[in-house]
Amino acid sequence: MRMVDLIEKKREGQALTKEEIGFIIREYTADKIPDYQMSALLMTIFYEDMTDEEIAALTLAMANSGEKIDLSSINGIKVDKHSTGGVGDTTTLVLAPLVASVGVPVAKMSGRGLGYTGGTLDKLESIPGFKIELSDRAFIAEVNTNKVAVIGQSGDLAPADKKLYALRDVTATVDSIPLIASSIMSKKIAAGADAIVLDVTTGEGAFMKNLEDARRLSHTMVRIGELAERKTMAVISDMSQPLGEAIGNSLEVIEAIETLQGQGPDDLLEMCYVLGSQMVVLGKKAETLEEARALLEEAIASGAAFETFKKMVKNQGGDETICTHPGRLLTAQFELELPAQTSGVVAKLVANEIGIAAMMLGAGRQTKEDTIDHGVGLKLHKKVGDQVEKGESLATIYSNTEQIAEVKKLLYQNIIIEESADEPTLVHEIIT
Ligand code: URA
Ligand code: CA
Repeated sequence: MRMVDLIEKKREGQALTKEEIGFIIREYTADKIPDYQMSALLMTIFYEDMTDEEIAALTLAMANSGEKIDLSSINGIKVDKHSTGGVGDTTTLVLAPLVASVGVPVAKMSGRGLGYTGGTLDKLESIPGFKIELSDRAFIAEVNTNKVAVIGQSGDLAPADKKLYALRDVTATVDSIPLIASSIMSKKIAAGADAIVLDVTTGEGAFMKNLEDARRLSHTMVRIGELAERKTMAVISDMSQPLGEAIGNSLEVIEAIETLQGQGPDDLLEMCYVLGSQMVVLGKKAETLEEARALLEEAIASGAAFETFKKMVKNQGGDETICTHPGRLLTAQFELELPAQTSGVVAKLVANEIGIAAMMLGAGRQTKEDTIDHGVGLKLHKKVGDQVEKGESLATIYSNTEQIAEVKKLLYQNIIIEESADEPTLVHEIIT
């Protein structure tokens, strides 16, 4: 087989076979196909699209390109969750213990954030002592006893995806639905998931800027999940404004604790119920989404979900006193208010720009080498649709410097107050 022939075949609109895709991924991972040929193929895929069979073959080839995590010694159906990305997305911190508390095992491998704000690992590391590295044995034992553990993603998971993603990033081929779908699903499959719940975000703060693209991506991933024998469901959720009120690592841990105690922001809690219900159904702890939701509501009301979180923190070496005294995580030197300049209704909170403001404070990384300041970030006091009076605080800025003129300017430009506003939609579609 020659790569040039395969590029030509794809360019002529023909589908590649499973063997051909397997060849390409194997040889590319082994550095035997050069980046220039792979770039040409990626651009061809961008324009020619792929069939479901091609995407499924690509997904499995990438999943098999490196280490595969074997979770078979964990009892029960292992359901993983993945979000295509958002700002202030605190769901994993809430969902992992919540779903575990009703009996679905959560063996979660998470990544760090690169971009606006920290990833789940960065958030967990704002808890003093919390260990995100466990041996395979300790990880599995923890999930078998407490039903939940959240650790860092192994370095050798789907190396083909790592290499391809870096190439896509510099060849304008990131926003291709078959390539995004296979990239995400390959990592979930390599991480050992039996079933997968996808949170496909749409809006300014997301990869998919409109509903139509989000719908295509969701249906594609659900179909290739089925072809790969991983039962998959998806939720299309809104990411035009940040989720919840907190954006920043320790601030989001506090928000997760409040949510697990039933006192978090309504939108975050609702997202956790919607995604959690799918996880519970896929984990076969309930027959229907309604039944699953009732179980989750009960786990919040009874305190079972919060207890599971506390145990997870303790068992992974973290300081569990922060669970009952979350104020200890507020370590930023300054807490500065952002007074509204006019009265009206919040019409827009442009998610990606607000994410950048949090990053400028130090809550996210601009390059892989940057370090994160866990204590800084934003707490929004107003969300889209809320009334606001001139002078009222729109947000508290947690900062380790008083020089925040640029941050304030960016926030004022992206918190838009008008006479009226459309009610925001949190969940656009549920795909089962
Ligand atoms: N997230 C991924 O993991 N891969 C993509 O291609 C896009 C988003
Ligand atoms: Ca949040």
